[in-house]
Amino acid sequence: MFRRIGVLTGGGDCPGLNAVIRAVVKSAVGHGIEVWGIKNGFGGLVENQMVELTVANVSGILPRGGTILGTTNRDNPFNYRCYQDGQLVYADMSGRALNNLTEKGIEALVVIGGDGTLRIGAEFGQLGLPVVCVPKTIDNDIPGTERTFGFDTAVSVATDALDRLHTTAESHHRVMVLEVMGRYAGWIALHSGLAGGADCILIPEIPYQTKSIYAKIMERQQQGKLFSIIVVAEGAKAVDGEWIGTKPAEGSSERIRLGGIGEKLAREIETATGIETRCTVLGHLQRGGSPTPYDRVLATRYGVAAIDCLLEGKSGYMVALQKNQIINMPLADIAGKPGNVPVDGDLVAAARAINISFGD
Ligand code: F6P
Repeated sequence: MFRRIGVLTGGGDCPGLNAVIRAVVKSAVGHGIEVWGIKNGFGGLVENQMVELTVANVSGILPRGGTILGTTNRDNPFNYRCYQDGQLVYADMSGRALNNLTEKGIEALVVIGGDGTLRIGAEFGQLGLPVVCVPKTIDNDIPGTERTFGFDTAVSVATDALDRLHTTAESHHRVMVLEVMGRYAGWIALHSGLAGGADCILIPEIPYQTKSIYAKIMERQQQGKLFSIIVVAEGAKAVDGEWIGTKPAEGSSERIRLGGIGEKLAREIETATGIETRCTVLGHLQRGGSPTPYDRVLATRYGVAAIDCLLEGKSGYMVALQKNQIINMPLADIAGKPGNVPVDGDLVAAARAINISFGD
């Protein structure tokens, strides 16, 4: 039913993006559909940066990190950053983006991205363009799906870091704080903290009190455990605190760039307990590199499902994982919903049951 479709990756990169692109291209071509890649996210759609993707040029990209198409988490065609008369302004360029697609004969779009990208995808769907989205993010914070691809890889990297921090913390009798990503959700911190045997896991969903963290460290000291491991999500904050990060430029659709809570906490712990405390910020190591086998499989399933969804004539949908089955769900059903860790869920309960502190 479609002769030519487009695919784009938007938002921060994430292990498994190339695996989705590969599956989209192979599956679409198998149905006789030509695929064009839009470069650099929605910015490339406005700027008309497109390239044909064939089975030959997606060959070999399955294990590769990043995205062969390039991406950006800055460009929103509905509020597009541009210069008019030498002045920086934000303008609606969605019409120009749609014209570029029409001129190229692209009749539908597969949009691979996180919450911001999916919102833009849904807006294009409302303008009449057939759009199917694939949920991507290491943060695992998209409502309606149990997993986003990239998360498993990020958790593996963070768990490996915790294993390494354990041996050096134990040798030096130090407190080690590991700051992980995750934006306003604590999924990476919770999973890696559980997998890596952390003593405290601090997540945005459970505001912490520093005195509870000190108490946990001192309790371990009294038990003869002279080191402690703390995982803190970048979006965690104290009961009476605020998010630590860099604020975006005025007028932009960008969000606060989180980061710095780990170092702040490390200084507070050292001052309060007198125990030498160091902080490691894992940062973009969690996003780079090759996807785990789990993420490669999930990404492939999502890519194939996105084409099936388009072929079923659906638009404004997202492919999702529920009870390990791939389903299609209307983007309208997830709009405005949170994708956070449930504080009364079994993961938090399991952590509490084995005496992990959430600092509350
Ligand atoms: O959403 C993925 C993510 O890595 C977040 O965990 C993090 O807050 C953000 O992106 C960082 O974005 P950037 O790479 O633009 O600094």
